[in-house]
Amino acid sequence: MSVAIRQIHLVFVGEVSGVDLTRPFAGDEVAAIVAGMDRYAVLVYRDQKITDEQQMVFSRNFGALEDSRGGTIAKAEDKRLTPGMNDVSNLGKDGRPLDRESRVRLFNLGNMLWHSDSSFRAVPAKYSLLSARVVNPTGGNTEFADMRAAYDALDATTKTHIEDLVCEHSLMYSRGSLGMQDYSDEERVMFRPVRQRLVRTHPVTGRKSLYLSSHAGAIVGMPMPEARILLRDLTEHATQAQFVYVHRWRPWDLVMWDNRQMMHRVRRYDESQPRDMRRTTVAGDAATVAQVEAA
Ligand SMILES: [Fe+2]
Repeated sequence: MSVAIRQIHLVFVGEVSGVDLTRPFAGDEVAAIVAGMDRYAVLVYRDQKITDEQQMVFSRNFGALEDSRGGTIAKAEDKRLTPGMNDVSNLGKDGRPLDRESRVRLFNLGNMLWHSDSSFRAVPAKYSLLSARVVNPTGGNTEFADMRAAYDALDATTKTHIEDLVCEHSLMYSRGSLGMQDYSDEERVMFRPVRQRLVRTHPVTGRKSLYLSSHAGAIVGMPMPEARILLRDLTEHATQAQFVYVHRWRPWDLVMWDNRQMMHRVRRYDESQPRDMRRTTVAGDAATVAQVEAA
């Protein structure tokens, strides 16, 4: 296969051609995709009819898959997909759209807030790979915001102010902002806040980026309202139209993004109709706060 990448947005996002994700990848092909991720941060592949197993095999080219435990309120026995696959559909185990009052559905609505996957984990995710199996007839676009371009566009005073700040991230902050406040004792332990740097440096390119996410709800050493105003301001800045790519899904698209450099969100859609989206997640390899200690 010969990997070719064409930039499709002014500041980021590449569309990949010349590859078949059902086939094994050679070392130089994987390297070409990793180089594309470092540069474009989001890669789009069209017409990739893959199975769950093939999606997991392709994803493992980039590292171990993240253990999905601790990132959901769905119980193991209620899961529709095999371990290793994150279900980002609106479907229950019976294959039908979840009921309006379903707690899993309400929790999943948090994906409509700007976020970076697994920023609530001490070692957050590296890549996410999302395959569209059934596209919803209305809405459901996924939007991506380039946190490198957003960082670059900050004024010097703000860059200095935020350089060494450390945020606390938790699923209870993102869901709390939607009014979900009730958690079991077990969930409160599972969702306890973790610390993340607000400014990250990419390990290969050295580019800085804002590490924002709706899971961020506090800043170490700062009164909470002050922290939340700052986070809200930065998020508004970072999600201006010039930093955003809107992906309009076609069946069998696969989109892969670097959570270390991007935020994303899904837009509202017709929840009476299926939207079957399946994600694999490549685990990160280091805590972001380690950069503070190393500095
Ligand atoms: Fe996500």
